[in-house]
Amino acid sequence: MLPQATCRLELMRILVIGSGGREHALLHGLSGHELHVAPGNAGMATLAQVHPVDAASPEAVTRLAREVDAELVVIGPEIPLVAGVSDALRGAGFNVFGPSQAAAQLEGSKAFAKDVMASAGVFTASATQVTALDEIDAALDGYGPHYVVKDDGLAGGKGVVVTDDREAAAAHARAVIKAGNPVLLESFLEGPEVSLFCLVDGETVVPLLPAQDHKRAYDGDLGPNTGGMGAYTPLPWLPADGVSRIVAEVVEPVAREMVARGIAYQGLLYAGLAWGPEGPAVVEFNARFGDPETQAVLALLETPLADALNAVATGTLAQLGPLRWAEGYAATVVLAAEGYPESPRKGDALSGDNLDDPSRILHAGTASRDGVYVSGGGRVLNALGVGATLAEAVEAAYAQLEGVELQGGFFRRDIARAAIEGAISL
Ligand code: GLY
Repeated sequence: MLPQATCRLELMRILVIGSGGREHALLHGLSGHELHVAPGNAGMATLAQVHPVDAASPEAVTRLAREVDAELVVIGPEIPLVAGVSDALRGAGFNVFGPSQAAAQLEGSKAFAKDVMASAGVFTASATQVTALDEIDAALDGYGPHYVVKDDGLAGGKGVVVTDDREAAAAHARAVIKAGNPVLLESFLEGPEVSLFCLVDGETVVPLLPAQDHKRAYDGDLGPNTGGMGAYTPLPWLPADGVSRIVAEVVEPVAREMVARGIAYQGLLYAGLAWGPEGPAVVEFNARFGDPETQAVLALLETPLADALNAVATGTLAQLGPLRWAEGYAATVVLAAEGYPESPRKGDALSGDNLDDPSRILHAGTASRDGVYVSGGGRVLNALGVGATLAEAVEAAYAQLEGVELQGGFFRRDIARAAIEGAISL
């Protein structure tokens, strides 16, 4: 067995690409190093130098990496990955955490992901792609009573409608096709959702703690789908062998298949799963850390984050060993702007005495106006809590929101409640 890396790396210059709560959590986990972020948000300036650079431009990001002489570049969101930013950086000699453009197709193209899963023997929902308005009705006949209708372009987890209302399913399909993207209809997978993030370096897979997101906007899993309204980790209801089964049955076969196809994966592979009667079934893959689960998961990570990300970026993950975690639980609750997700209102004043403490509040859609914070996006910030029990972690996260003021802002009040009440059954 190889020895586990135990020492923190020397101070590094690290460039993080992105602007959300996930990237703020990454910066917080990397604090102590010289940090740069692009394009960033208003709350990140306490941890990193913020550079107003177009994150989706391979040329602009490579120029910035040269300017700051980055030793490691960490790419947060999917859009730069699918745009080939990691390829441009690697071509220029940088160590990059984030898959190549070709490998990021696991998120960028649902059809590619389904093909990889079929070759790798991974269990997933059956799916039909629809590209023409007059095909929608016939395709819907093959599904139901629960309809899963996905935008097959990049939608950051926000292009999915799950509904029992056939007309609502058809309306979403029409809207996606009119916007120029294909639609994917999928069979509904029964069972509670699991997000498992894995560091992947070729065939080496190192899992993080399993987490659960809450995708609907309102309490009781009502309202429209969002990017995620809150999350908790680990999952008290997941079988003891849950993570090892997901790694062995899903992530390792996919990692091997990617190597066999000559597009080895190097970055974070996010398996979005339903835990059904037979165990894990893949809902989707993402080529990046999830948001907001990352905010909770990284709150428990004891292994220096820079060691873990650098090991992937330098092709040495096999030498890292398992990650170390704090005991207990972590939770995050998203404060969203009025009108989110359809039409979030921006520019409202945001106040609170904890807004500059990233161990308590992580910024997502925030901006600065005349020296004060204002809302600048739909998901405005994430409150964080950790505790010996899940109930304590959730209570600590909600306590952080008590002093925060945002006109019209709202948050779900039932994050992790089903898990705390033992109401999640397998
Ligand atoms: N947690 C949902 C996402 O990151 O897409």
